[in-house]
Amino acid sequence: MTTLLIATRNAHKVGEIQAILGADFRCLTLKEFPGAPAVVEDADTFAGNATKKAVELANWLFQMSIATPHSTRFVLADDSGLEVDALNGAPGVHSARFAAMDQTENSHDADNNAKLLRLLKDVPLEKRTGRFRCVIALATVGNWKMERGNCQCFAGACEGRIQLAASGQGGFGYDPLFVPDGFTQSFAELGEDVKNKLSHRAQALAKLKNYFNKLAT
Ligand code: IMP
Repeated sequence: MTTLLIATRNAHKVGEIQAILGADFRCLTLKEFPGAPAVVEDADTFAGNATKKAVELANWLFQMSIATPHSTRFVLADDSGLEVDALNGAPGVHSARFAAMDQTENSHDADNNAKLLRLLKDVPLEKRTGRFRCVIALATVGNWKMERGNCQCFAGACEGRIQLAASGQGGFGYDPLFVPDGFTQSFAELGEDVKNKLSHRAQALAKLKNYFNKLAT
């Protein structure tokens, strides 16, 4: 059993990560570490933000010499978002705070989705292509200070398009607007079993699992 601290306050992400990783991994959340610092996500790439979150939390755990539950040896950070071709890759790394474009506060999903639909209102369906991207960064909680270059990064992307109106109740974020290639329903309609097999996050986590399998051999 590998224990990971998941460096996010997004409960949907934690749920997906635990469901995708399965029973060989125990995912702790920041709820179990109330003193953990809030990391400012100001990098201009997903990899930059993911490594920043993972390293800052691993170093915080190390400095605090916290007796972590189940001896947490790894911090896992997910940075992800939606790139829309007709918007030159926006919202990209600003996906969580797209509506207000506030550096520190995330916007509500409904406001982000409304802004996306507004910006795409004159763009026909065939030009509404895009993709979800995810970078998972893995930092080790050691007895040395972790540098960003020591992080392992695993990337995933899921191609699709932005539909004309939201549909479905599942998932989170832009899921009600995003239809993955090869499907006619949004991620929010397809449900978690389908999403967790083909999503950007599923692809990145498959690489992470592979990494742990190799370590074990
Ligand atoms: P982060 O916490 O800075 O990585 O923000 C990620 C943001 O990207 C979320 O708040 C969502 O708006 C969006 N996002 C990332 N992954 C997904 C997904 O799987 N479904 C829907 N939206 C996502």
